[in-house]
Amino acid sequence: MTPRAPLAATLLAVAATAAIGDAPEHTRGQAIYDRCIACHAIDRNRTGPLHCGLFGRKAGAAPGFASYSDALRNSGIVWNLQTLERFLRDPAAMVPGTTMGYAGIADARERTALIAWLQDATRAGARCTVPGVP
Ligand code: HEC
Repeated sequence: MTPRAPLAATLLAVAATAAIGDAPEHTRGQAIYDRCIACHAIDRNRTGPLHCGLFGRKAGAAPGFASYSDALRNSGIVWNLQTLERFLRDPAAMVPGTTMGYAGIADARERTALIAWLQDATRAGARCTVPGVP
């Protein structure tokens, strides 16, 4: 990393904050979502299911995603602040047999920032224009 990179990252973060007119916490949440984008996108299925419409949806029910584990599909979970908090802390502990190959986010403040950002980003709106997703 060059010495200039941290400054550039800071400027980008500031610009993003200004653009959405929101708290720095929000920008942090979005940055933490970078850990998820190897497998996920908000608005389309990839290795993992899309996240549009996540809040209030049953686990294993993202439209068009065919490769859920039975463990997740039959878990009976409905995604909300509490269930996401537990799942993202340690996915395999909450859903033994899940095929989400991710160890989880150990830092509670990071989870809170990510989940708060997800709550916004997964609502119908700029990022979330998936037909049939409320
Ligand atoms: C290595 C790939 C990978 C990474 C990294 C990953 N996921 Fe996943 N995720 C998956 C897969 C695959 C599933 C489906 C798991 C199953 O069916 O058991 C999944 C499922 C989920 C679900 C359940 C969705 C539903 O429709 O029921 C949520 C929520 C989720 N991931 C959030 C995240 C978040 C947030 C991150 C980043 C902190 C993340 N994932 C990182 C692959 C990944």
